[in-house]
Amino acid sequence: MARELILGIESSCDDTAAAVVDEDGNVLSSVIVSQASIHSFYGGVYPELASRAHVDKVIPAISLALEEAGVSHSDLRSIGVTRGPGLIGSLMVGVDTARALGEGWGVPVLGINHLRGHLRSADLNERRVEYPATILLVSGGHTFLAYMRSPRDVRLVGSTRDDSVGEAYDKVARMLGEGYPGGPIVDRLAKEGTAVFNLPRPMLREGLDFSFSGLKTAVRNLVAVRPEARKEDVSASFVDACMEVLTVKAAKALESHPSRCLVVVGGVAASPQLRESAQLLCESRGVSLSLPPLKWSTDNAAMIALAAWDYVHAGAAPGLAPVASLSIESF
Ligand code: KG4
Ligand code: ZN
Repeated sequence: MARELILGIESSCDDTAAAVVDEDGNVLSSVIVSQASIHSFYGGVYPELASRAHVDKVIPAISLALEEAGVSHSDLRSIGVTRGPGLIGSLMVGVDTARALGEGWGVPVLGINHLRGHLRSADLNERRVEYPATILLVSGGHTFLAYMRSPRDVRLVGSTRDDSVGEAYDKVARMLGEGYPGGPIVDRLAKEGTAVFNLPRPMLREGLDFSFSGLKTAVRNLVAVRPEARKEDVSASFVDACMEVLTVKAAKALESHPSRCLVVVGGVAASPQLRESAQLLCESRGVSLSLPPLKWSTDNAAMIALAAWDYVHAGAAPGLAPVASLSIESF
């Protein structure tokens, strides 16, 4: 009898990933092949190079995921593959690979919303999310707040009007002459610095939407006008501004959408400063905090496989056509 396992495949941006996850969210294997060294030179993801690297790595990543889990394709109930949002060329590699394997193995293939994957990442290996929950999703491609009554029922309540916070981290690292991805680098610099520069907190008092382009420009101007400023202090000032904006907005969302839990997910959720700020916020509001394990904050396929289980349970048969943009509300 076939075991109840899902193979997840993720290739929406610059990580090629495959994972095997059981129905309870236990991760049997999770392989992530990073392309950071390819894109570092450009200070951001170079789409054409990303697609080519996915072509090279996707089959080895899947083979390794099955091997590490100690299973074969006959143990799979489904394959869940990211169909969007993301870079279209990168998405096509994952989707076409999943489609071909599914056809050859006789296993159904489900097209998964990458954002739904992030949203479910906090439940990997252990149930952490209590409903209803407020979600703060902070990644390289997105920054938004959502309200979740169940894994299926998700409503967007605020989002960035321009850049994502992850993109701002990446651009600030570049302005400081550092590599990619910028998040961990800026975090590390910030820890050694002091927030001596007063940077703007865009849209702080206005609703639940965000804006990060003005903050990014302010850092660019600061670096131009004060070339002697220590990178550590610029980073600390930038991180301070980001933390204030993110926590003030999350607090507002908790006020207007009564929740048992705040869920912080996406690549920037790997930031120790954000983890700490969110913890303080939740303690002051009497709600619990759900965070994905650090290794599953950034892009991975385990979260895609777990999201695929939601589709299986709902009896949904989502399409497989890759799409560059897709709302969190799309199941
Ligand atoms: O979720 P993710 O892996 O990819 C997208 O779906 O976009 O997020 C990547 C983003 C990048 O902008 C990266 O700089 C940021 O997450 N990031 C971090 C940290 N680790 C990754 N930002 C702040 N602190 C970190 N430790
Ligand atoms: Zn992502």
